[in-house]
Amino acid sequence: MCGIVGYVGRAEAAPLLLHGLKKLEYRGYDSAGIAVVEPHLHIYKTQGRIADLEALLTEGVPPGSLGIGHTRWATHGRPSWENAHPHCDCSGQIAVVHNGIIENYLELRKKLEGEGHVFRSETDTEVVSHLVEKYYAGDLCRAVQAAVTQLKGSYALAVVSSRHPNELIAVRHDSPLVIGVGEGEYYLASDIPALLDFTRTAYILDDGQVARITRESVAVFNQHGAEQLPQTMHISWDPVQAEKEGYAHFMLKEIHEQPRAIRQTLAGRLGVGGALRLAEEIPADFVRGITNVHLIACGTAYHAALYGAYLLQECTDLQVHVELASEYRYKRTRVNDRTLAIAISQSGETADTLGAMRKAKAAGARILAITNVVGSTLAREADAVMYTHAGPEIAVASTKAYTAQLCSLCLLAAYLQQHSQGTYDPDLLRGLLEIPDQMASIFQTCEARIKEYSWERLAAVSDTFFLGRGLDLASAMEGQLKLKEIAYIHAEALAAGELKHGTLALIEPGVPVVALATQPHLLDKLLSNLREVKARHGEVFLIAMDRQRDFSQAADEVLLVPRTYPMLAPLLTVLPMQLMAYYTATARGCDVDKPRNLAKSVTVE
Ligand code: AGP
Repeated sequence: MCGIVGYVGRAEAAPLLLHGLKKLEYRGYDSAGIAVVEPHLHIYKTQGRIADLEALLTEGVPPGSLGIGHTRWATHGRPSWENAHPHCDCSGQIAVVHNGIIENYLELRKKLEGEGHVFRSETDTEVVSHLVEKYYAGDLCRAVQAAVTQLKGSYALAVVSSRHPNELIAVRHDSPLVIGVGEGEYYLASDIPALLDFTRTAYILDDGQVARITRESVAVFNQHGAEQLPQTMHISWDPVQAEKEGYAHFMLKEIHEQPRAIRQTLAGRLGVGGALRLAEEIPADFVRGITNVHLIACGTAYHAALYGAYLLQECTDLQVHVELASEYRYKRTRVNDRTLAIAISQSGETADTLGAMRKAKAAGARILAITNVVGSTLAREADAVMYTHAGPEIAVASTKAYTAQLCSLCLLAAYLQQHSQGTYDPDLLRGLLEIPDQMASIFQTCEARIKEYSWERLAAVSDTFFLGRGLDLASAMEGQLKLKEIAYIHAEALAAGELKHGTLALIEPGVPVVALATQPHLLDKLLSNLREVKARHGEVFLIAMDRQRDFSQAADEVLLVPRTYPMLAPLLTVLPMQLMAYYTATARGCDVDKPRNLAKSVTVE
């Protein structure tokens, strides 16, 4: 997710904007830019660091005291100078910066082009500057209000115009914006860290609000245009707390961002009622005639691949093969021009995944990348790309990128099913629309309990087991990896049916076993596996979905997640396990965001 700053006052805007942007660098970005009004619009952009942007201003900054700035994390259009914000209208008098995703930008763009507007970038954002231009009739705020009625999606916007040298317009819709209050000046930011060096008094805009900010005052309007009284608040966070939005660690923040990440993954791809729209990213010709699918990935992304393989096996008649990228690279693989190779990687830079993808490509496969990073090597080398849109993931342990991968794979499975069988399972996609709210309810109802269990039980042990059957096995594997990776506790994931083939020997009194029970057709089998554990006095923490069932003979503790379509359960059950890993790690005093011996992006073999 990108960063926004703005300023209107009496000081020179450019240095203040750059200062604010630097405070947002921790979030990750691929390009940056500012616009300053004096008396015309002066735009400076770079595909690179803020330092590169600063270098553009060494010859002197424009003296204007109104401006906006942006750090971009690419979503639509690769990282480039053209795609960096701010974006202007045809006349070059209106500049816009934007966070979020405009879902209906393609149809808006087509319409605006038909009306004669000329676009210069590949972004969804540019439609906003042209819409404001279209509706402009002397009042910038009114033009922005009219423009946003046309937008679908999530957006925080800052808009300036050279015709209004004392006016900064801000809009918030599902993407945060805060107005910092100074002495005869106001600051705008998407994130509090950008304000802290200037002020501790702020207005937090509510969803749907539009603000007209001048150096003298702020007027706030709701979506119907009625003026509202903004409430100020005092910001007490220190700068480090502010970067993490008050969470103790980035990992915890990112765990909690999952409802929003899933909404972003679905944005523009799934209409109300579950209508699927993927053809723009994955053209029909690209998947026509495929007979077999290879899924390749590493670590957490590999667990997503296991989930995807299961779904594709259930939903399509395709032959599905899933493999760790590091193994795939050096094995005989049966690839032909009817193979669809799906490479999954949060970063898009993992050396093994790139190596495996190149091998499949050289053998004639069609390559589909599922990645979170626009313009990454994987995205550039693949034939088609499906972006997960989870936003930058800063903690080394992958959380929101994982669930966004699962969500993308659901969409993809339905899409391939539609292509191979002419129809797809509407319940799967309808259920997906409910997942964000269901995730949010897990935090409300389960987090305190998981924290207690983690602090009191898990933190003190040295060995744990994670059990599941079917789709729950892929989730169990992800749960065990999280615990190992950040809490440094040995954890082993097993297909529950395999326990009796050897590992049961390690189940002793008090050994914690985390089990997943969400797949109705496997529930009885799983419960009898758990009774084997209980008979040896192992301690079972069960994550289940079925409220009618009595689990008392099979588990010591039962945590119920909201009921969903069984194929979607992994999007919910992983949350308690992420929290378990997180709270266990904090109880043990581990460096949660930077665990030992690991890197966020593994660019070596
Ligand atoms: C996840 O928590 C890990 N840190 C790690 O397994 C990661 O998923 C793996 O290295 C693959 O990374 P990628 O998704 O960026 O390719």
